[in-house]
Amino acid sequence: MHVIVGITGGIAAYKATGIIRLLTEAGHSVKVLPTQNALRFIGATTLEALSHNSVDPDLYTDVEGVKHVQLGQEADLVIVAPASASFLARYAAGIADDLLGNTLLVTKAPVIVAPAMHTEMWQHAATKASVKTLEARGVKILQPETGRLTGEDSGVGRLPEAETIVNFALASMGDQDLAGMKFVVTAGGTREQIDPVRFLGNYSSGKQGIAVALEAQRRGATVTLVAANIDSVSTELINVIHVKSAKELSAALDSVYRTTDVLVMAAAVADFSISDSYETKIKKSKVGDTLSLQLVANEDILRGITSQVAQNKIKLLTVGFAAETVSTDEELESLALKKLADKDCDVILANNVSNGQVFGSDLNDALIFSTTGPKVKASGTKSEVARELINVIVDLLKK
Ligand code: CTP
Repeated sequence: MHVIVGITGGIAAYKATGIIRLLTEAGHSVKVLPTQNALRFIGATTLEALSHNSVDPDLYTDVEGVKHVQLGQEADLVIVAPASASFLARYAAGIADDLLGNTLLVTKAPVIVAPAMHTEMWQHAATKASVKTLEARGVKILQPETGRLTGEDSGVGRLPEAETIVNFALASMGDQDLAGMKFVVTAGGTREQIDPVRFLGNYSSGKQGIAVALEAQRRGATVTLVAANIDSVSTELINVIHVKSAKELSAALDSVYRTTDVLVMAAAVADFSISDSYETKIKKSKVGDTLSLQLVANEDILRGITSQVAQNKIKLLTVGFAAETVSTDEELESLALKKLADKDCDVILANNVSNGQVFGSDLNDALIFSTTGPKVKASGTKSEVARELINVIVDLLKK
């Protein structure tokens, strides 16, 4: 894992050495970003030696590498310890006047902040407001301990021991059971052009597919999202390929599925396209009262991939989705099991989409079937359903 250790100006800066040592000993790659004031308390040479990495807090060196962007993007975890009152205020305000501040605004990785300061400063309304703002943004704040402070005084504001900080940071990252795995997730609904202003489409919003992509990424996978007609893809997802038609979706997958570990086909792919779509707008005056459009079947993309996987012994776990209009769970189960076999995939997530349920909603109620595992009922928010699906995938990957 790539871990950034930010150090700010405070007497407890020396304790960051323990954090760096614990992380490197556990096999993580550590990049230390001290602020200029931190370097008044601890030397760059010490930090370089312990992290086995260069330490250069200057934003304006190595500019051609755009290092704040690179550091922020490749980080899996950021720990800032000790965090001074001044740092908390700058981070809360989004001030990016040094390398650490810039990197924090770029990164999508979890950020853990361990404040340390005198009791009066910790209890000041300004510090409290900074902490509240940061927590609301998802930054995890490790509360300072009570004990002996820099001078003769004691009180709340002491930096916890390195082990406590590292354990807190690793625990708040949750499971990283997909670290090193590559996922491709398709989401949304394809559109088949009728003429330049009209299309044949479906109601899929892409929310469930995006939730799966985010969950896989959160658990350590590198994720490529193939987004079919989704306007607002979460900015947390870095690799996104936008497509419109089934043909474009198929071409996007062609270039990536052979080098991936898991393919999740959550997209609603049109089964038909217009055999000869119009190059100019269809005019009512020209067609009269009826308009016949001839539809031709699209290739079954998932089936095409699973047959390539079988023929060429490609190592790829495939997950299909089944959107069915049924009245009972038994009916849904029998159609899903048939689809699992017909598509020759490893997992099927089946939804009952009768009466407009599921499409566009933030909730889902699904059954998950796999070739070797038990049936799983997943219901709740689409994120919760995504978590259940990823759990099933993780179990299969272990087999
Ligand atoms: N799918 C695909 N290519 C298609 C149609 C569907 O890859 N041309 C994939 C979908 O992404 C989904 C799964 O196949 O993962 C099942 O899609 P669904 O629309 O439920 O089933 P169909 O195969 O289209 O069968 P039917 O419409 O008859 O239920």
